[in-house]
Amino acid sequence: MSRTYRLARRVLFKLEPERAHRLAVRAIASGMLPGHRPDPDPRLKRKLLGYEFANPIGIAAGFDKDGEAVDGLFRLGFGFVEVGTVTPRPQEGNPRPRVFRLPGDRALINRLGFNNHGHEALYRRLIERKAKGGIVGVNIGANRDSLDRIDDYVLGVRRFAEIASYLTVNISSPNTPGLRDLQENKALGDLLARVVAAREASSRKPPLLVKIAPDLDDDALEAIVETTIAAKVEGMIVSNTTVARDRVKDRRAAEAGGLSGWPLMRRSNIMIAKVRRQAGARLVLVGAGGVHSPETAFVKIAAGADLVQLYTGLIYEGPGLPARILSGLARLVERQGFATVADVVGSDMERWVKARL
Ligand SMILES: Cc1cc2nc3c(=O)[nH]c(=O)nc-3n(C[C@H](O)[C@H](O)[C@H](O)COP(=O)(O)O)c2cc1C
Repeated sequence: MSRTYRLARRVLFKLEPERAHRLAVRAIASGMLPGHRPDPDPRLKRKLLGYEFANPIGIAAGFDKDGEAVDGLFRLGFGFVEVGTVTPRPQEGNPRPRVFRLPGDRALINRLGFNNHGHEALYRRLIERKAKGGIVGVNIGANRDSLDRIDDYVLGVRRFAEIASYLTVNISSPNTPGLRDLQENKALGDLLARVVAAREASSRKPPLLVKIAPDLDDDALEAIVETTIAAKVEGMIVSNTTVARDRVKDRRAAEAGGLSGWPLMRRSNIMIAKVRRQAGARLVLVGAGGVHSPETAFVKIAAGADLVQLYTGLIYEGPGLPARILSGLARLVERQGFATVADVVGSDMERWVKARL
């Protein structure tokens, strides 16, 4: 962490977490922060989902739900940006307080409940910046009071197919009651069939990813991977936040919501290794959960991730983190005897599959 961020963090952490977050998003959006984007390193490039990723490190969904800071995030060095979760209609989310810091655990708990400005607002912002390019995924969800949740995802595909580099079907937030039930096999089959049909009916056909929870047992996970491949979905994001509290010491562990950051890393690494073993090359896998350094990014890729996303690490390590990960990751690739980062993918999968929580 830079000295500047150490000081800035002291101030930010005195503020209520959501207020600090608003300031951070605004600062990143303003372009006021020093640019961190390093020169592209050919060893970190990936060709996936029909795109050339300059590097495999992305900002995870939820940081910029409404697409207000996309270009600022690219300036920090991220190779791709995922905006959302966005729902058809704007909604407030759950009552505050609903985001909690657990500094001793380098973790966060949130129960935001899809607070966002809705499809139209995000669509307008993405159209406005379209010419600037970059790989921008849109993470779609359902309104809490929706009468037909599957329909909300279909609306998301229709609205964003034209502009999104890829679409993420988020069925794994723990903060919208009943949402995770969509991971149940029959429900998932129906959902994916309708979402894929909506994509096929669009003039542009962006790749689809399904984002899953880290709280599934082995049988459920196996069924989901099978159903996802059968539905001709291109990839999976592993994982969202967890409702488990293992490895957490902070007294705020008792807060309801999804846990992210360091304590999630092991759980999500084991899970991505299992998905990789089952799916082989049939799915593009994005690993999220606890990445906060070059080493943790490397480990996640070795467990089976093609691409990596982070959120909580940015809060604790600051805006210089993506650039630091990129230079460190390139060094690690070389030091461990790999020619490129693509060669690292899954190289430690077997060990992670067998690892205990
Ligand atoms: C405050 C907060 C809000 C989030 N909102 C979303 C969201 O809207 N949609 C989503 O798919 N994931 C959301 N996530 C989950 C992250 O995208 C990511 O999957 C998870 O935090 C694990 O990564 P991390 O340990 O690097 O934070 C959110 C996470 C946090 C901490």
